[in-house]
Amino acid sequence: MKRRTISSLAAQKAAGEPIAMVTAYDHPSAQIAEAAGVDVVLVGDSAAMTVLGYDSTVPVTVDEMLMLTAAVRRGLRTPLLVGDLPFGSYETSDVQAVATAQRFVKEAGCDAVKIERGGTSVQRARAIVDAGIPVMGHVGLTPQTAAITGSYRARGRSADEAFAVFESALALQEAGCFALVFEAIPAAATAAIMPHLEVPVIGIGAGNAADGQVLVWHDLLGIYGGPSARFVKHYAELRQPMTDAVAAYVAEVREHAYPLPAHGYGMPDDESARLRALLADR
Ligand code: KIV
Repeated sequence: MKRRTISSLAAQKAAGEPIAMVTAYDHPSAQIAEAAGVDVVLVGDSAAMTVLGYDSTVPVTVDEMLMLTAAVRRGLRTPLLVGDLPFGSYETSDVQAVATAQRFVKEAGCDAVKIERGGTSVQRARAIVDAGIPVMGHVGLTPQTAAITGSYRARGRSADEAFAVFESALALQEAGCFALVFEAIPAAATAAIMPHLEVPVIGIGAGNAADGQVLVWHDLLGIYGGPSARFVKHYAELRQPMTDAVAAYVAEVREHAYPLPAHGYGMPDDESARLRALLADR
């Protein structure tokens, strides 16, 4: 498969070929995404909950995100790698936004970064693009601010709210974003907005009219233990088999059933006898 680029994603949109995006947070998951033919891998700040155990995306730091993102980079060749700028790392000023985005490119090997919301984020997106780093926008439900307001409801259920989502999307596109994430937006609103945007739109809980879809790794594979959003589909239920496997290991350790001789290293009988003699004589 050919390496994905900003222009290959635009070509996929033009050809009507849906874009498959997943999140990933570690090296083996990146290798699986590569093998599965994923187009875009996002090291989302959802890592805060899925792998770091925080209650929301708000506490995760740039350094934590960089460590996870660099591990994903080492497992990828083909998909476009997008790093998610965490809450508090880009909002203050253009200088802060560009400096953080540069760290994701230089230290973690990202091809692009993602930032949330319209409003002041539009200018931050423009500044990062002007610094030569591709930006993916994210509108609709934006978890960084939703965590603070406590409102995780879908966005755009009224025409006025959906139009406001569109205005943010358009502003981000005009600021130079190469793609947009639409999160938790009614399918009818996405379908109405799509003909008015030029860049690829990747949906999560935004219906089937988007140019592609993204799912969170632990949701897709049924690993995450917490409640799932309505739009989540589990393509496997791995949490229970993983728990069963670890429980089987614990039971075998307790029963001295693991390890068997086949799991160990041999020693010639005469060497073993000599060792016992040496120990007995000391
Ligand atoms: O952090 C994340 O995983 C995301 C996706 C839901 C798009 O932003």
